[in-house]
Amino acid sequence: MINGIMTLSGAWHKLRTDPILRFFIVSLSFYGMSTFEGPMMSIKSVNALSHYTDWTIGHVHSGALGWVAMVSFGALYHMMPRLWGVTLYSTRLVNLHFWLATIGVVIYIVAMWISGIMQGLMWRAFDSFGNLSYSFAETVAAMHPYYLIRSVGGAVFLLGALVMVYNLVMTVRGSARQTSATAA
Ligand code: HEM
Repeated sequence: MINGIMTLSGAWHKLRTDPILRFFIVSLSFYGMSTFEGPMMSIKSVNALSHYTDWTIGHVHSGALGWVAMVSFGALYHMMPRLWGVTLYSTRLVNLHFWLATIGVVIYIVAMWISGIMQGLMWRAFDSFGNLSYSFAETVAAMHPYYLIRSVGGAVFLLGALVMVYNLVMTVRGSARQTSATAA
């Protein structure tokens, strides 16, 4: 992660003008975060709290959406115009996608962290008689607001991906139009 980020040293100003580069930097940051979180979660005492909870789901998605999806989006935006020999249909839509994806994934992960830690703490809470303080159904009910927040985050992220599909389809169509104009 450090190697990836330091590759940009001396060229940070490019982030202001190149939205594709932003995808790569945010992706690297999530890569660092999830590969830091993973070893923490593999510590026995931490895993005793996190296992089976939404914390694991938060970890998975900071890796899968924050790292893998973001780097894939950046790669698609970089490669597709080169493969079809055209410029991207809209850089402003790339920018919009960047913010939708970043905000969406952050909302999603924060909701899962809070819900997961709360879930783990509720499962292990005992009263003074040694009985469980909460039934399983009560823990599910307590997670309800966080599931709503999670769905908002996921929907925002998905919307960003749809913006990308539209942008890439229009890019390829532009290339088809250019080819037929040249042939005529
Ligand atoms: C050094 C890096 C990493 C370590 C040591 C690590 C470790 C862990 C640990 C301890 C868990 C929880 C297991 C449990 O309590 O059930 C977990 C779950 C998971 N992690 Fe990571 N993680 C790392 C990075 C990543 C990354 C980058 C991704 C995704 C791209 C990822 C995807 C997952 C998935 C899908 C699960 C859920 C597995 C399941 O419950 O079936 N991990 N990881």
